[in-house]
Amino acid sequence: MRSFRKPLTVAVAAAALATAVASGVWAQGEWKAPADAKNTKNPTKKDDPKLVAEGKKLAEQNCVTCHGNGGKGDGPAAAALPPPKPADWTSSKIAAETDGELFWKISNGRGAMPPWKHLPDNQRWALIDYIRSLQKK
Ligand code: HEC
Repeated sequence: MRSFRKPLTVAVAAAALATAVASGVWAQGEWKAPADAKNTKNPTKKDDPKLVAEGKKLAEQNCVTCHGNGGKGDGPAAAALPPPKPADWTSSKIAAETDGELFWKISNGRGAMPPWKHLPDNQRWALIDYIRSLQKK
């Protein structure tokens, strides 16, 4: 018997896509955080290796299916998604955004990018500390 089961990652992406389309929030154009969100200060000590390691672990659990192991937006589920594709965390575009902007976007999501408000604030900041560490490589 041949198995037609697709990898779970593709199923997750398809579900996210279906939700986004069904709810009519499929997003187009530039994604902007509100002006006041840009100024939210990162309360963590960014270069703390413990936080970077925690962020890496959280990314492996929650983000790499879409964003890829190195954060380049090339996770296994990315191929199944229509544009806008999962962001390349190492790109100059993401590097140019403030921590507050990233925090707001990670919290709220858009289209296929899920909202991560259910993760405690300190975990969302650790994810940003990890993303920043990838940009330095
Ligand atoms: C189901 C796929 C998926 C998962 C899982 C996912 N993302 Fe995304 N992410 C996306 C997509 C798609 C975009 C582009 C959204 C857009 O531009 O409208 C994106 C964009 C982003 C951006 C860029 C925002 C900007 O400035 O344009 C960041 C940062 C980000 N994601 C972080 C995360 C983090 C952190 C996690 C895990 C906690 C995560 N993502 C999990 C699909 C995903």
